[in-house]
Amino acid sequence: MTGNASLPLVRVGGLTKCFGPGCPQCRELTGPAVGTNQCPRCRSVLACRDVAFEVYPGEVLGIVGESGSGKSTVVRMLHFDFEPTEGRFHMCLPSAAGEPERLPDPEQNLFALSPFARRRLRNELMGIVYQSARMGLRMKVSAGGNIAERLLMAQWRHVGRMRERACELLERTEVPLSRVDEPPRRFSGGMQQRVQIAKALSTRPALLLLDEVTTGLDVSVQARVLDLLRSLQRELGPATVVVSHDLGVIRLLTTRTIVMRHGAIVEQGLSDQILEDPQHPYTQLLVNSAL
Ligand SMILES: Nc1ncnc2c1ncn2[C@@H]1O[C@H](COP(=O)(O)OP(=O)(O)OP(=O)(O)O)[C@@H](O)[C@H]1O
Ligand SMILES: [Mg+2]
Ligand SMILES: [Zn+2]
Repeated sequence: MTGNASLPLVRVGGLTKCFGPGCPQCRELTGPAVGTNQCPRCRSVLACRDVAFEVYPGEVLGIVGESGSGKSTVVRMLHFDFEPTEGRFHMCLPSAAGEPERLPDPEQNLFALSPFARRRLRNELMGIVYQSARMGLRMKVSAGGNIAERLLMAQWRHVGRMRERACELLERTEVPLSRVDEPPRRFSGGMQQRVQIAKALSTRPALLLLDEVTTGLDVSVQARVLDLLRSLQRELGPATVVVSHDLGVIRLLTTRTIVMRHGAIVEQGLSDQILEDPQHPYTQLLVNSAL
């Protein structure tokens, strides 16, 4: 499924985010070798540094690591929620994926685009499920309304079919249709995540970003949401980045994984290999403590 013959859909390089003013010593005084992401001199947090990876069409890439290792920061920069301090981000889409003039130039660093152009790319090509449903949904707007808003932002052309499309997606993500007009704040955590998933997939994104999609859910609910994601991913085939600190989620959903610690990638490879035979001491610790 990794279609290595094809070009990567996403290429990320040198991705770095410093929260705070930064100083010339931030880099040497932080990172996995030092055991912290916070610079003792200027108190800035180097949330991620020199992160580089590729995601191929249809592939599911995992990002795993302990709390605070920088996983969400990476994903949120790809979604243009935060400006990176440094970094390159390229997307290369086959022209069949849309009208050629609306596709990004594969050589263009997308971080250098205008805010307007970035917003358009995000709206038209990406879907995200946030770690917190509060960030991903308007809690007082109906479930159907949340999806309709998303479709409008992506300039979905079939305005008359908006409600139908919202219902289709909610049905596909197993949200009872009787609840389409209810606001997500009345829903359980699992149901809120289903609405986020429906919203993220509504525009058939080329790139799907899932941040701790099952964290905080009951184990039985987790299993059903993961099943659902697996079948939707197979059916719709977006390139997907799955962030989780749960190795079970990584095992179930991903083919390749990067392991982060204190903002840096410490190990990467095929997920099976990483889980069976981790090389880096930190990954060994992660895997052993999950057994
Ligand atoms: N807006 C912000 N301002 C300052 N520091 C931040 C900000 N957002 C994140 N950080 C810091 O950056 C580091 C990385 O945070 P991030 O949320 O990316 O970690 P994470 O790997 O997603 O953790 P978790 O598993 O808990 O979700 C943390 O030390 C965090 O405190
Ligand atoms: Mg996070
Ligand atoms: Zn510093």
